[in-house]
Amino acid sequence: MTKSSTRQSDHPPFAFVLFGGTGDLAMRKILPALYAAHRDGLLAPEGRIVAVANTALDTSGYLRWVGEHVKPHISGAAFDDSVWRSFLERMAYVVLDASQPEAFSVLRDALDTGRGRRIYYLATGPALFVPICRALASAGLTEGSRIVLEKPLGYDLESSNAINDAVGQIFNEDQIYRIDHYLGKEAVQNLLALRFGNSLFEPLWRREWVESIQITVAEELGVEGRGNFYDQTGALRDMVQNHLLQLLSIIAMEPPRSMDADAVRDEKLRVLRALKPLLGDEIRHNVVRGQYHVGAIKGASVCAYHAEQGVGQGSTTETFVALKAEVESWRWAGVPFFLRTGKRLAGRLAEIVVNFRPVPHSALGPTALRPGSNRLTIRLQPNESIRLSALAKQPGMGMTLQGVHLDLAFDQFFQQDRMEAYQRLLLDVIGGRLALFVRRDEQEAAWRWVAPIIEDWDGHASPPKPYASGTWGPAAASALLARHSTCWPEEEN
Ligand code: BG6
Repeated sequence: MTKSSTRQSDHPPFAFVLFGGTGDLAMRKILPALYAAHRDGLLAPEGRIVAVANTALDTSGYLRWVGEHVKPHISGAAFDDSVWRSFLERMAYVVLDASQPEAFSVLRDALDTGRGRRIYYLATGPALFVPICRALASAGLTEGSRIVLEKPLGYDLESSNAINDAVGQIFNEDQIYRIDHYLGKEAVQNLLALRFGNSLFEPLWRREWVESIQITVAEELGVEGRGNFYDQTGALRDMVQNHLLQLLSIIAMEPPRSMDADAVRDEKLRVLRALKPLLGDEIRHNVVRGQYHVGAIKGASVCAYHAEQGVGQGSTTETFVALKAEVESWRWAGVPFFLRTGKRLAGRLAEIVVNFRPVPHSALGPTALRPGSNRLTIRLQPNESIRLSALAKQPGMGMTLQGVHLDLAFDQFFQQDRMEAYQRLLLDVIGGRLALFVRRDEQEAAWRWVAPIIEDWDGHASPPKPYASGTWGPAAASALLARHSTCWPEEEN
């Protein structure tokens, strides 16, 4: 374990209660992240993890389960056997049917002996969020505690409001940590640093200089055994309503007064509330939905979405969305924000492209006006980087221009390892830092904006456009940009 020279207040004691302790998220993300925090010496020695699920196991049986299911999700280089054993010493397991309030006395007994702040992490389906909160309240377990809610928080504005109302009767807003793991990504926080730590971009960050902004979050993966869940969800709810709108709000927000949780969240909220509603025909013109068909990813053929396990026959669930959004403010009026996300695309890529306007008059000939120069590309994953694309003169006689790049590759510059998003966010919950969590009003504003799109799709049910797996989505996504005389970066040249 890395030696920790920090003060007690940096690593406060805690009792971390993980509902859904035998679930997929616990196995892939939460327990590996807690292990990493333990390995890095970032957890108080007396911090305890109490996993809760309704699988009949005792603690030693659970620890065996953890060995089999969690260990494989920790990369070899990060694994150390003695650290692992000391990590397991923090853990206990409680069998509990979370839908039975009377069963919660078992949890109270398990927590009675510990000290430190109680943190309840609900890594369960959203249907259990309210029953769990109510049962915790009637067992007298909520005082001074924190609750972490995983996405999806609801299915639409109404169901998310219902959950937030019910949870809000038991926990104050400053006790509620709504996770959007994109906010825990180092690269996303870097957006704040880039925008508000450098004066050079700020004067240009507005409609006078920016022609368009593109945000792409592309995945090669399909639904990966989550067909049942995904078929009820689709890309708009799974990715756009949360991750992509959060990225948009950070890119478009005004400089906050400070990095205080509410100062940052107030500014993000203003952007979300200023999104121009898409209504009626605008939805058909400005939103593309697609669904993957057979194709190949890295040379290996993959099946169509509707052949995935758990997906309903003839499903019209979208696995791809591209859309044009606008922010109604003096800073951004008229600047299109193109958002795109999808599964089974040609690459795994999350990036934001800020296209600056071309020079108003080219004394240097037409190449000075070509797309691809005057551009800032912020690559969030993989290989986090910032690239400024400009034009330079080719050496020699004449004045031939050529695209050149100023590149900052973060992993070359900063040699130290990146902290995984979940590790960062869990440490923030333990430390009581809310800045990287979604406030209720932000979430509501995001649902409110996507609601008419959901309604339109439900009502008019024109099926999603097919695209071959391993491509960049349906042709309509290119046509959407072509109508604005632009294209996606991979379509240039
Ligand atoms: C999750 C979605 O929130 O984000 C998944 O539910 C998606 O469908 C995942 O695959 C993408 O996250 P990342 O960190 O791999 O880009």
